[in-house]
Amino acid sequence: MQYATVTDPAAAGRELDDLAPLYEAVFAEPPYLEGPRDVAGFLERYQHEHTTPGFRLITAREHGELVGFAYGLPLSSGTRWWEGFTDGTLLPDGFTREDGHRTFVVMELAVLAHLRGTGVGRTLHAALLREAKGAERVALAVRPEAPAAAWYERLGYQLVGLTQPWDGAPVYRSMTKTLSP
Ligand SMILES: CC(C)(COP(=O)(O)OP(=O)(O)OC[C@H]1O[C@@H](n2cnc3c(N)ncnc32)[C@H](O)[C@@H]1OP(=O)(O)O)[C@@H](O)C(=O)NCCC(=O)NCCS
Repeated sequence: MQYATVTDPAAAGRELDDLAPLYEAVFAEPPYLEGPRDVAGFLERYQHEHTTPGFRLITAREHGELVGFAYGLPLSSGTRWWEGFTDGTLLPDGFTREDGHRTFVVMELAVLAHLRGTGVGRTLHAALLREAKGAERVALAVRPEAPAAAWYERLGYQLVGLTQPWDGAPVYRSMTKTLSP
């Protein structure tokens, strides 16, 4: 397996031709059952995200073919990440303060089904966070019914609360993990 880190926005943009079919295949599976509209949403988000300062993409390739990827970015001060809690979650004072460095978000992580359970996801996740310098914590949102929710717990993530990021969106578990300095 060959892993690569991409931080240059132009290079990250060029990866999209490979990322899109992998995203489409992985998130067509239950519980996501995503279709063309969701894939279009991913493409639109990625176009914005990959030019954000601090963006990092890790790719995993086998015989030159993309088999997994992870990417993320730090939250900016104007982020709406901490909005949309559905369960009356009360966050401690200052919890939602962001400055472009404090919180690194794992935006997407996906491995082709036939290679799961072989350590690719763990390696992608570790590589993604390796250079998240200055970040106090890492955050993500995961569907509670996805096997990935238990997987993230195993990696040390803890529940912040349940969130519905936009009207009509599924409910997600908002999770964080403290990073050691
Ligand atoms: C989540 C995902 C990226 C994990 O990737 P992976 O390559 O299968 O993970 P790994 O093989 O590195 O797993 C590492 C460890 O987690 C364990 N594990 C695997 N699936 C697990 C699960 N559902 N629950 C708990 N632990 C799990 C493995 O046994 C392994 O344990 P070990 O290190 O003690 O041997 C992959 O399952 C995936 O692509 N899922 C579909 C997309 C998705 O849901 N992405 C997350 C969206 S937020």
